[in-house]
Amino acid sequence: MNFITGRHITFAITGGIAAYKIPYAIRDVIKMGGQTRALITPSAEKFVSPLVLETLTNDRCYKDMFFENGRTVHIDLARDTDIIIIAPATFNTIGKIASGIADNLLTAVVSSADVPVLFFPSMNVRMWLNAINQRNVKILKKNGYTVISPESGELACGEEGVGRLPETGVIVSEINNALCPKKDFKGKRVVITAGGTIEQLDDVRIITNLSSGRMAKEVAEVIKARGSEVTFIYGNISVPLPFGAKNVRVKTGEDMEKVLKKEIKSADILIMAAAVSDYVPEKVKGKIKRKDKKVLTFHPTKDILRELGKYKKGKIYVGFALEDKNLELEAVKKMRDKSLDIVVGNTISTLNSNTGTGIIITKDGEKHKFKHQKKDIIAWEIAESIIALHKSI
Ligand SMILES: Cc1cc2nc3c(=O)[nH]c(=O)nc-3n(C[C@H](O)[C@H](O)[C@H](O)COP(=O)(O)O)c2cc1C
Repeated sequence: MNFITGRHITFAITGGIAAYKIPYAIRDVIKMGGQTRALITPSAEKFVSPLVLETLTNDRCYKDMFFENGRTVHIDLARDTDIIIIAPATFNTIGKIASGIADNLLTAVVSSADVPVLFFPSMNVRMWLNAINQRNVKILKKNGYTVISPESGELACGEEGVGRLPETGVIVSEINNALCPKKDFKGKRVVITAGGTIEQLDDVRIITNLSSGRMAKEVAEVIKARGSEVTFIYGNISVPLPFGAKNVRVKTGEDMEKVLKKEIKSADILIMAAAVSDYVPEKVKGKIKRKDKKVLTFHPTKDILRELGKYKKGKIYVGFALEDKNLELEAVKKMRDKSLDIVVGNTISTLNSNTGTGIIITKDGEKHKFKHQKKDIIAWEIAESIIALHKSI
């Protein structure tokens, strides 16, 4: 779900080698409808061209504190934004802000801002692990700033380790999450299953289904943006994985059950959006040859939701029901049979599509119908139903 449209986002760029990646993040934020502004330290100018930033943001690239006599530019810039993104955040700037130093425009803007500030540190692994830097990061967090840990991998200096700036997609997703107006899933652990499972017919052929995993991905992203930790257990999907989730790949229904039994123990909420095969074929060894008519034997699979019943104690379980007729009736039946708290009934046209038609039903009897609705909006409504139910139990 896009929380960036119409918001004012200030990119505060410091003098790290990863500064060259920031114009890509600015471009993506503009594509999502964000109003951007670039603010740089004098060192950052060595790594990224102010002209590129000015062209992208269609504004001045702000660097000098004293460029307009008589105006407190740092206060204007701090006032006129919804969020500040310090990316890359150098060892030096992290240290300055943690110590209350405001000796350039960027640090002065941050010191006078009362909007969310996200730091994306990026530096050599030894600089990152330096005890002074680690202490400074703790000070920032303690004072309400968000610090997104750098990733591990090959660094610009040729060394390996923690210190890499995350990819643009991760930066944009973190900005989007920070701008989400609700944080009511904070402290919750949510497990979501997605996509179709894969069962083997022989050693070369598989049986799966048309589930794309889109609905589950949208739910994962909305719930993550609202503050929860998400474990995303996925089979065969045709959409990109959600950013910021613990993503676990599985193949068969049996694999999914095994992973779920492990992950469910520490979860507060389970959302079963995967299309798990109802049947598993008796697998033929080798490759089935083309001959005459072939009869294959299928066995019903275990009902995973029923298997997970014994782990439920106080957790909220949400299930999905895809039905071609009597949608509401069948969905309610599924909710009762499987002791679900919420069921999302949807029509076959919802499968592998960007929109959905169906109904969200809670065990309290609340109903919310949707028709050709975008899946991110449906995901938001599912989150609303979970919160409403959570408050009532
Ligand atoms: C080629 C080069 C690359 C650098 N890359 C980084 C970096 O990735 N992270 C970092 O913290 N410092 C890096 N530095 C050091 C900073 O540029 C230096 O500490 C500077 O004072 C930072 O100023 P600022 O925080 O005001 O932008 C680099 C220096 C050079 C010469």
